[in-house]
Amino acid sequence: MTTPSIDLKPSSTPLSDAEREAILANPGFGRHFTDHMVTIKWTEGRGWHDAQLTPYAPLSVDPANMTLHYAQEIFEGLKAYRRPDGSVATFRPDANARRFQLSARRLAMPELPVETFIEACDALVQQDKAWVPEHGGEASLYLRPFMFANEVGLGVRPANEYLFIVIASPAGPYFPGGVKPVSVWLSENYVRAVPGGIGFAKTGGNYAASLLAQAEAAAKGCDQVVWLDALEHRTVEEMGGMNLYFVYGDRIVTPELTGSLLAGITRDSLLTLARDLGYESEEGRVTTDQWKRDTENGTLTEVFACGTAAVITPVGTVKSTDGEWTQSNGEPGKVTMELRKALLDIQTGKAADEHGWMHEL
Ligand code: PLP
Ligand code: COI
Repeated sequence: MTTPSIDLKPSSTPLSDAEREAILANPGFGRHFTDHMVTIKWTEGRGWHDAQLTPYAPLSVDPANMTLHYAQEIFEGLKAYRRPDGSVATFRPDANARRFQLSARRLAMPELPVETFIEACDALVQQDKAWVPEHGGEASLYLRPFMFANEVGLGVRPANEYLFIVIASPAGPYFPGGVKPVSVWLSENYVRAVPGGIGFAKTGGNYAASLLAQAEAAAKGCDQVVWLDALEHRTVEEMGGMNLYFVYGDRIVTPELTGSLLAGITRDSLLTLARDLGYESEEGRVTTDQWKRDTENGTLTEVFACGTAAVITPVGTVKSTDGEWTQSNGEPGKVTMELRKALLDIQTGKAADEHGWMHEL
């Protein structure tokens, strides 16, 4: 089945330049949305159809829409960056498109072709280019492609209609207050995902499952939850919306993909980028005992979190039922900041894109 090209129906009443500039001066994260959205429908027997770019607008949802009841929903997150010459590029949209297909397969949804995913993101960014924050700061345009069951009914089965949408939101730093280490709580009471479950898929249910644990972390005075494996509660998996890296001098280690954590695109990029910078990088198993012991004996020199929204964020204080300790004296570590700069320089077009990661519009 082929996919239709996108029918452009731009808004006749976009926000004024002054209104948009006021938002871009302090965008926050996920609070404001651009003037347009792209929608593509999928219907059993017909495939993908009615691809449109239209003004951003609320949807009308039937109370018996299957997504509201059984959560057949998946999403992605990627960013468009302004480059020094004013042009705009997205970071590895093909990787997001492939992960979207993986998520779709796990949730028994139709797979959107990679090129259609990229075409939909491109069409929106092209139309709303003025919303991509200027080069030089840390702000970018966050794209949120998502898809959900769009059939009415209460039977528990894969739907026979879906709606794919891309919206965009100008984004400043995910954690307000600049590059400041975050404090984390090692969650032992709750787990995010189990072997054979949906942990590797980017689906809303995983985030719903995280909220109570996040509230527990906040009650312990921490910014974020660290998820441990579901069976023994000993092996470190990831954070609520970020992967983790452990820095052992000039070797960096990230938890291996067990099926219950998300295969972050930032995580994957850093495995390569760290090698470019002369570090060893590997995937492996890190336990909470090891985390505490190696911090105390000085071999584990830094810990950081990484993801599209959060970029690279140092981890400072770690709290658990087993006590409390602090990484790198609560300061952003040297390797963390070096990797952060190297990644952002590629994304914002300040450094050469040697791996062909940037997708120019
Ligand atoms: N883990 C979770 C649970 C996430 O939501 C995200 C964010 O997308 C990540 C990790 C990091 O993934 P990426 O680097 O692709 O943004
Ligand atoms: C992202 O980094 O794209 C995420 O999805 C994290 C969070 C906003 C859910």
